[in-house]
Amino acid sequence: MSATPKTPAANQMWGGRFATGPDAIMQAINASIGFDQRLYAQDIAGSRAHAAMLAAQGILSNKDAEAIGEGLLTVLSEIETGKFPFRVELEDIHLNIESRLTEIVGEAGKRLHTARSRNDQVAVDFRLWVRDQCDAAISSLTALMQAFVAQAEAGADWVMPGFTHLQTAQPVTWGHHMLAYVEMFARDRSRFEDARRRMNECPLGAAALAGTSFPIDRHMTASALGFDRPTANSLDSVSDRDFALEFLAASSITAMHLSRFAEELVIWSSAQFRFVRLSDRWTTGSSIMPQKKNPDAAELLRAKLGRILGATVALFTVMKGLALTYSKDMQEDKEQVFDAADTLMLGLAAMTGMVGDMTANRETLKTAAASGFSTATDLADWLVRELGLPFREAHHVTGTLVAMAESAGVDLPDLTLAQMQAVHPGIRADVFAVLGVENSVRSRMSYGGTAPTRVREQVARWKAALG
Ligand code: ARG
Repeated sequence: MSATPKTPAANQMWGGRFATGPDAIMQAINASIGFDQRLYAQDIAGSRAHAAMLAAQGILSNKDAEAIGEGLLTVLSEIETGKFPFRVELEDIHLNIESRLTEIVGEAGKRLHTARSRNDQVAVDFRLWVRDQCDAAISSLTALMQAFVAQAEAGADWVMPGFTHLQTAQPVTWGHHMLAYVEMFARDRSRFEDARRRMNECPLGAAALAGTSFPIDRHMTASALGFDRPTANSLDSVSDRDFALEFLAASSITAMHLSRFAEELVIWSSAQFRFVRLSDRWTTGSSIMPQKKNPDAAELLRAKLGRILGATVALFTVMKGLALTYSKDMQEDKEQVFDAADTLMLGLAAMTGMVGDMTANRETLKTAAASGFSTATDLADWLVRELGLPFREAHHVTGTLVAMAESAGVDLPDLTLAQMQAVHPGIRADVFAVLGVENSVRSRMSYGGTAPTRVREQVARWKAALG
């Protein structure tokens, strides 16, 4: 704290009507350069497209546009080589780049901001960034799906217990369980594809909020930046952050799916289950208990939805109730989206690594599949099919047999034919065929069912679709 505070100079980019610069704390709360520098490549691409369009429309001389285009490439390489002098008093990435451009190319740099505003500039930069993240999510999800399909192909006929309520329900196949996640991640991928399609309209040229009196060509900038078309309403263009919310929503659902398989990995890799083994590459040790191999990556993946959903709620809360058009509140969009995207990409990569790495313990899976009276439904179905019992009655007969086995401390196939016939005299010896887990899964041939034949069909379909 100085006794005679210096009066800071007014902002060189917009300070014309300001006698002094901002208070240090004002600067601290206002500046976004600490995080929005991540948009540098998008900002430069947007500015280059804008300058080329201004020249094509005769709003800027070709000489100036060329100087700007070249100068921006110099700025780009300064940033990428760590030589760029970021200045917090220049608030954000847009003013930092424009100011540096003007230092490099002189007068021409000052003409770049013709017919645009930071409002459409940040909107286009951020859209480009989020669009890239959609592409990254789409390709990461494809890799993850491929890892699950490879597991499914290897274990199309390995039997394991299927659960409801985490209680043994019916035997299923490993391949079928793996493909359940392929379905989930395929829907996630299509959500990113949908969001990308919707966000692929260019807000550049909306200017501050009302459009511009300069004869700009918004179709030209839109196509130069890979957008399908320009946005149709300038007010909406500068105030829309739906595209970021959709990205976050799709990310949240994906992270929720990641957390579900992460939880299964945690359970399955425990000493009590031993369904799968994760190698040393995907586990950590304990500093005190030498025997430990902890599935930390899976645990962290189970938790990451907290951050991503947190970002989603944060941005909804920022946007809720904001009157049109741009308000500075919206600067709070970026850190949330950046963190969510980083978290998602790391999570997808980690899960892909773990799925590729995990080894199923086939024998353990099979033993577990046969315990817990997992073929009771098969028995009830046999009574319906072979003896013509109504299903409700078959259910009751089977329940009586399960109770009998349970009190004898054995599984259903261990009961003798005589014991079974004491409960229902019509039961024949061929009932034992349906009590085996292999036969059980083979019989579930309905479309979408767990039979190895069905699983192999789905594996083939996914392999063709995923390439
Ligand atoms: N840093 C700002 C943001 O992230 C850029 C837009 C500023 N626009 C303005 N009129 N002050 O939102």
